[in-house]
Amino acid sequence: MTSAASTAEIGVIGGSGFYSFLDDVTEITVKTPYGAPSDSLFVGELAGRRVAFLPRHGRSHHLPPHRINYRANLWALRSLGVRQVLGPCAVGGLREEYGPGTLLIPDQLVDRTKTRTQTFFDGEPLPDGTVPEVVHLTFADPYCPVGRTVALAAARGRAWEPVDGGTMVVIEGPRFSTRAESRWHAAQGWSVVGMTGHPEAVLARELGLCYTSMSLVTDLDAGAETGEGVTHEDVLRVFGENVARLREVLFDAVAALPRNEKRDCLCTHAHDGWDLGIELP
Ligand code: ADE
Repeated sequence: MTSAASTAEIGVIGGSGFYSFLDDVTEITVKTPYGAPSDSLFVGELAGRRVAFLPRHGRSHHLPPHRINYRANLWALRSLGVRQVLGPCAVGGLREEYGPGTLLIPDQLVDRTKTRTQTFFDGEPLPDGTVPEVVHLTFADPYCPVGRTVALAAARGRAWEPVDGGTMVVIEGPRFSTRAESRWHAAQGWSVVGMTGHPEAVLARELGLCYTSMSLVTDLDAGAETGEGVTHEDVLRVFGENVARLREVLFDAVAALPRNEKRDCLCTHAHDGWDLGIELP
């Protein structure tokens, strides 16, 4: 039986340099059929909304991007009742004008990862013996349009003019791009580069969750950079410099998201016409 203290309607998945969200929280350990999430879930209340926070890399940043159990993370959030997820993350800017401190709310995604499981519908039976069907979801628009609008308004409300739209290319990591890769990414017209945006977004969609990426530029990626190249220290430093205002934007976004039962965006219709073969939590 799930107690009220362990339910939530909105999830926040914090990235590099973002390891806690609310002060007064209940720590909850969640088990999933896919193994353990990155950490406990920290559930609290904000503006009358119940929020579950999950540090994507673990609270002590022990998980590199390619070792994160994205399936367990999304499944765990959904099992608490979460239906809308905000995903702040650190990214590199691929254009000179997207320098450190830029907040970009992407509307498109390119997957350049190599090793990650990106579906729940892989034919593998769950521990309860049920077997997922073969399911091919529509993913033309990878982010929740309502969540994007809310995130943009929240940033503007805090006098942080965000970039509205753009393409995030997600690389396998954990290394940063070479200059040649970075120039190639920029030449494709892509806007920012990160390491965790995929498969987080598609797994959220497969669970019928609304997912909004809030991409904080921490560096100009290697192609645009004239110095030695991107370092992790730079990423953490710039994220740290911006984390307070990012938290404020998230507070306002959480407060402004629709109630789960009011959702009617494309994410809520992700499963229309499909027999999933398994019960979602
Ligand atoms: N995260 C932050 N900066 C990044 C970069 N330049 N490339 C990939 N991931 C990043």
